[in-house]
Amino acid sequence: MIHRHLPDDAATQRLAEALAANQPRGAVVHLQGDLGAGKSTLARAWLRALGVTGTVRSPTYTLVERYPVEGGEALHLDLYRIGDAGEFDFLGLDDIDAALWLVEWPERGAAALQAPDLVIQLAIEGAGRAVELVPGGPLGAGWLAAVSDDPRLSALSEPKP
Ligand SMILES: Nc1ncnc2c1ncn2[C@@H]1O[C@H](COP(=O)(O)OP(=O)(O)OP(=O)(O)O)[C@@H](O)[C@H]1O
Ligand SMILES: [Mg+2]
Repeated sequence: MIHRHLPDDAATQRLAEALAANQPRGAVVHLQGDLGAGKSTLARAWLRALGVTGTVRSPTYTLVERYPVEGGEALHLDLYRIGDAGEFDFLGLDDIDAALWLVEWPERGAAALQAPDLVIQLAIEGAGRAVELVPGGPLGAGWLAAVSDDPRLSALSEPKP
């Protein structure tokens, strides 16, 4: 588990770059945290780090936005407004072998979603954000080991007790 304080948007962006640079192909990432915790900010910076140059739309109403990236497609989901599990099937994502899954509000997709390789928990902390990175299995654990050695992450301070 990695725990850091992100004082501003730029710190969130550095975290996204460190995660993207070390990302295993096909990674499933669950982004948790209340409204305004910074999930979309992290997702947008991550997609940019993967080379997405056009508009990064919020999938608030479409539920999913898809982007071509190296190694396939990156999927950005926001399940806040999903109606039921049937609606998830309707998205037709079952057969997609995506290079990356970034899922906001994964709790709302429940059983239909793949288990996460990495859970990212964001919370408001003062004027910035607290972030916890929790691996979901061996793939995530190896990924976090690489991320914790990344200079972009070392630049972020650990939270004060
Ligand atoms: N590390 C940070 N420090 C301070 N502000 C931040 C940080 N990261 C993001 N923010 C700000 O938090 C606000 C909300 O961010 P964002 O839209 O990413 O939240 P969200 O978790 O996706 O919310 P929602 O659940 O509504 O989609 C934005 O104004 C963003 O600039
Ligand atoms: Mg959001």
